[in-house]
Amino acid sequence: MANDDSAWRRVDEFLGATLVPEESALAEVHRSNARAGLPPIDVAPNQGKLLNLLAQLVGARRILEVGTLGGYSTIWLARALPPDGRLITLEIDPQHAAVARTNVDRAGVGELVDIRLGAALETFAVLESECGEAFDLVFIDADKQNNAAYVRAALDMSHAGTVIVVDNVVRGGAILEAQPDPNAAGSREVLELLGSEPRLDATALQTVGTKGWDGLAIARVRG
Ligand code: SAH
Ligand code: DHB
Ligand code: MG
Repeated sequence: MANDDSAWRRVDEFLGATLVPEESALAEVHRSNARAGLPPIDVAPNQGKLLNLLAQLVGARRILEVGTLGGYSTIWLARALPPDGRLITLEIDPQHAAVARTNVDRAGVGELVDIRLGAALETFAVLESECGEAFDLVFIDADKQNNAAYVRAALDMSHAGTVIVVDNVVRGGAILEAQPDPNAAGSREVLELLGSEPRLDATALQTVGTKGWDGLAIARVRG
């Protein structure tokens, strides 16, 4: 089989069908997003399941997500929470937040999910002032220019063992271009931060599949 986009896509579809069959609630999120005209940039099913497994592995009770869109990744993460768990997700676009509210409620995890409308950096400041419990897992998937700022803010609300996941850190290789666009520059910058910040232990993997060529970084706050 040729190593091209169509083979990556077919293998990803096989992995999804074999390991992560989407039941109706998740399939309905995709339909609902499409009806509302949201861009189809949610994580792939096998990536959503990875987020869910990571949250289970760390025994997450408090999860923070930056970038809600229609709530697809939100639902995967919230499903890993215990009944007294909480997921706070930050979204700047009121229409995305409204669609996500409907989707998350329909998927049956609405009581666990708090959608905060606004620019994430501003909401981070509000969360800091609320002095809530530290987060066990943080998923960063919004405007890539602010990736490094989001990791720094997340560090202030973390504890030893908190896991920080950053989406889209490869961008089809654009992170190594001489003049990267602001998104690719932000993705590269966050990798450099994850590699140099002494409080973090991190790695990143390139991914191919239905979302094209991209990557995911995973970091753990040191004890
Ligand atoms: N995590 C979602 C996809 C998120 S797409 C999933 O996998 O299902 C990125 C989202 O980040 C978009 O909805 C966009 O409106 C939002 N966003 C962009 N800039 C933002 C900002 N400054 N603050 C909060 N959200 C932002
Ligand atoms: C884009 C954003 C994402 O979070 C993603 O997973 C894929 C694409 C984008 O802005 O193009
Ligand atoms: Mg993404």
